[in-house]
Amino acid sequence: MTNPLHLPFSACKQVLRMPIPHGLRRALPSRETADAALAALLAGGEVPRLDVSRFAENLAASPGHTVLGAPASWTDAQLRWAYVVLLQQFGSLNDRYGKLFDVVDQGLDHTTTSAPVSKTKAATGMHTDSSDAQYNPDLVALLCLQPGARGGQSLLASAADLLERLRKHHPGLETVARMPWPRDVVTPGLAQNLSAIEANAIPVFEGEGDGLVFRYMRYWTERAMDKIGRPVPENLTLLFDFIDQDMADNALRFSLKRGDMLLVNNRLVVHGRDAFEDAPQAARRCLVRAWVDGFVDSQDNRLPLRA
Ligand SMILES: [Fe+2]
Repeated sequence: MTNPLHLPFSACKQVLRMPIPHGLRRALPSRETADAALAALLAGGEVPRLDVSRFAENLAASPGHTVLGAPASWTDAQLRWAYVVLLQQFGSLNDRYGKLFDVVDQGLDHTTTSAPVSKTKAATGMHTDSSDAQYNPDLVALLCLQPGARGGQSLLASAADLLERLRKHHPGLETVARMPWPRDVVTPGLAQNLSAIEANAIPVFEGEGDGLVFRYMRYWTERAMDKIGRPVPENLTLLFDFIDQDMADNALRFSLKRGDMLLVNNRLVVHGRDAFEDAPQAARRCLVRAWVDGFVDSQDNRLPLRA
């Protein structure tokens, strides 16, 4: 069922679902040709143009997200092709983890290594993507190929609503939220020494109104502080506790099914997922992540792209 459009996030009681554009169905390659069509697309081939203005409106401001449901009967290659075509209407796909990054449990542990949580089966905690101060994707997207056996529900929360409640309940903490705090450096290819971690400092909130930017990764901030030997100030812990509790109370929780494409404005909306378990002899949970740069409706304070 499609929800009413253009609701403020706080009025959203469920995730905003919209039908995929007809143009995407019409242009879909056959099962036999989808792999080649996908490869051509990822290599820079021509992209069919679609009218995505309604989706762009919902992504640019509240509610800052949408889920498009493609038929589960499409093959993986057809779904990936449709996903890439759709995302390229909004900007370009970032390549630092590969244009398409399969989020599957690789048996890794992010608490004992520098592995990203996206390679584990753990709950992620609510966060925005990219721990690199110099790079912030405009849109984060996930295509569900396999929802998995147990758990793994998705969560979304509004940063603007959160800021409003922070001002109401703990106005003194906004100053803390607008100071840059270090984050651990986990991006492949970047120097991971202590001075690099110290320099990789990001405020939780920047800007205001339409230019609001929220960047939140509690785990990586606390780990950075630990590595560089800086105690976490009490007021920063208070801020993190407030944010986590507020998002636990107010986040939308929902399940993605095969064919669902979740698109999220990474500046205005925080996302997370519950822990999950794959079952033996069953298809493993697989979500395909992509980061979109240069979203046409994003604000002027877009961060520079990194080569
Ligand atoms: Fe994420």
